[in-house]
Amino acid sequence: MTATLIRNQKRLAEQAKRIQSKVPTIAIVKNDAYNFGLKDTFEAFYHGGIRAFATTNLKEAKRLRSLDPSVEVLLLDPCTEFKELREHRITLSLPSFEFYQTYKEELSGLTVQLVFRNDLNRLGFTDVTGMISVLNDTDLNVNGIWTHFAYADDFKSDRYQHEVSNWRSILDSLSDYLPSLPYVHAQNSASFLREGLHEDHTHIRGGVILYGTRPYYTGLNESIALQTVEITANVIELTDVPAGANAGYSAAFSAEKDTRLAVCDIGYGNGLILTRKNFPVLINQTPYAIRVMMMSHLLIEVDDTVSIGDTVVLYNDQLRFDWFTENGIGSFSQQMAAINKETFTDILIPIK
Ligand SMILES: Cc1ncc(COP(=O)(O)O)c(C=O)c1O
Repeated sequence: MTATLIRNQKRLAEQAKRIQSKVPTIAIVKNDAYNFGLKDTFEAFYHGGIRAFATTNLKEAKRLRSLDPSVEVLLLDPCTEFKELREHRITLSLPSFEFYQTYKEELSGLTVQLVFRNDLNRLGFTDVTGMISVLNDTDLNVNGIWTHFAYADDFKSDRYQHEVSNWRSILDSLSDYLPSLPYVHAQNSASFLREGLHEDHTHIRGGVILYGTRPYYTGLNESIALQTVEITANVIELTDVPAGANAGYSAAFSAEKDTRLAVCDIGYGNGLILTRKNFPVLINQTPYAIRVMMMSHLLIEVDDTVSIGDTVVLYNDQLRFDWFTENGIGSFSQQMAAINKETFTDILIPIK
């Protein structure tokens, strides 16, 4: 028996369509499309009407271009492989005024977007003066400007309002240039769900919401996100541990009473994050507690209704990624990025 990863491309396409029909969306497909798989995700999002894609590395940007000759492919990170960028018609994000000055000649004729660094302090121009110099450089084709908010998912402080207003003042200073830019974008899933598309913006840059999870749980209707990934495993053995005995490495579990444990064929080696252990699995629709997580196995405390061969559900419509996020296990990207696809029986539910 092998644990199963079910990737629902049909739902992924439907989810993309729901979002794209509300707001023009640049799809974030970095890290193998949040580990869903770049090609399968591209097909789903394209089917859902999305025509602009962004990633952080050149390899994925080239792959996107190979999947379609006409979509917008935006590289979010700096890159000096100018020949390849040109050849594959990839739009480069300029990470700073210094980068522009250093590579001014090589950049000639390339399509670029300007990034404003803002409070994330990762990449980007630090003031509007440099941005205006580049916008006035007729050797470059500037097709957009963007920033990324560091606090959109953070409801505990007013820092989000600070970065939004920083960006607003940049946009105000660039107001003469905005009408000619086809891509003006800043908002991730949380920012969009909080406030809708901001004024003067052409697109959102969506990640988690496109993959079917809500960036935050409370107050959002479940119908906003169709979960697209399901993970199941199997009961491969039952073991009765008498009171006072232990199970697992270094007595990871000590039985206070006579306890039946189901041994299940999944563990952190499959990419379950360690804190997943603190929450139940479902077997025959009943929740059971995980007592031990090992590399390839879980020990789950069960009752005598559970049999060898029963299916153990780790993630499905009842056990949603966003519910786990809400309960402190980690973001959707952390949970998804950890999944080790090679170790699963991988089932793709196709768009049609
Ligand atoms: C630059 C950039 N834009 C947008 C996103 C999408 O964010 P979310 O998944 O919260 O929608 C990310 C995600 O990390 C990002 O790095």
